Amino acid sequence: MKLLSGAFGSWRPRAVLSPRIETSRLVLRPLEPADADAVAVYLDDIEVARWLVRVPHPFTTEDATDFIAQCCTTASLGTATTLGIVIRGHDRAIVRGIVALHSLDTRPEIGFWLGRPFWGHGLMSEAVDATLTWAYANLDVDAITAGAFQGNIASLAIQARQGFEVIGMSRRPSLIEERLLDHVDTRLTRARHAARPWRP
Ligand SMILES: CC(C)(COP(=O)(O)OP(=O)(O)OC[C@H]1O[C@@H](n2cnc3c(N)ncnc32)[C@H](O)[C@@H]1OP(=O)(O)O)[C@@H](O)C(=O)NCCC(=O)NCCS
Repeated sequence: MKLLSGAFGSWRPRAVLSPRIETSRLVLRPLEPADADAVAVYLDDIEVARWLVRVPHPFTTEDATDFIAQCCTTASLGTATTLGIVIRGHDRAIVRGIVALHSLDTRPEIGFWLGRPFWGHGLMSEAVDATLTWAYANLDVDAITAGAFQGNIASLAIQARQGFEVIGMSRRPSLIEERLLDHVDTRLTRARHAARPWRP
């Protein structure tokens, strides 16, 4: 089922974007108000937050509650879907990170972060791959953009493995640095996604 029609053009707010996506190690599901404590724990980490555009530091449970409320609103408008990443096999279904598709009515973009204790095991590669596959199967989008502040080697490595191409450089605000930083802009077209020669 296509949820959006004509990204960059004839978009209509038609459906709540609330998928549940399962992979071998992960469950991706919409954020809930009860996730605020977990989101705050992992996002109140300067090593995570400094790579993100709109995240203040420190980041409190109240900030997380506001963020989750905004995510519910944008999902109900059909302009974004923000999924909490739950790692299977842990004792409780706690959110350890987020993968989000936003600006679906204008210029679809994917963003992501993972709590630092869980880095380095290919988990975000798995989450991003599953989210892109879901997006191209369910959303009528021609391309998804991404990118990273210059120097974010891990994020750009994940994007490159998915087939994202560098399309330019821009300057984006960093709330933490309180200035504009160099940003590598990337894009994955539907055709390149379909032509990926590998599966992670
Ligand atoms: C970016 C982030 C999500 C990566 O999560 P992760 O689960 O550790 O990522 P993965 O293990 O799936 O993949 C990381 C990739 O980066 C590579 N990488 C990581 N650090 C690297 C480094 N210093 N030099 C070279 N490659 C590096 C890994 O080898 C891997 O690539 P590969 O699969 O081709 O080997 C995590 O570090 C994070 O949340 N960072 C802070 C927030 C952020 O940067 N978000 C993205 C904003 S654009």
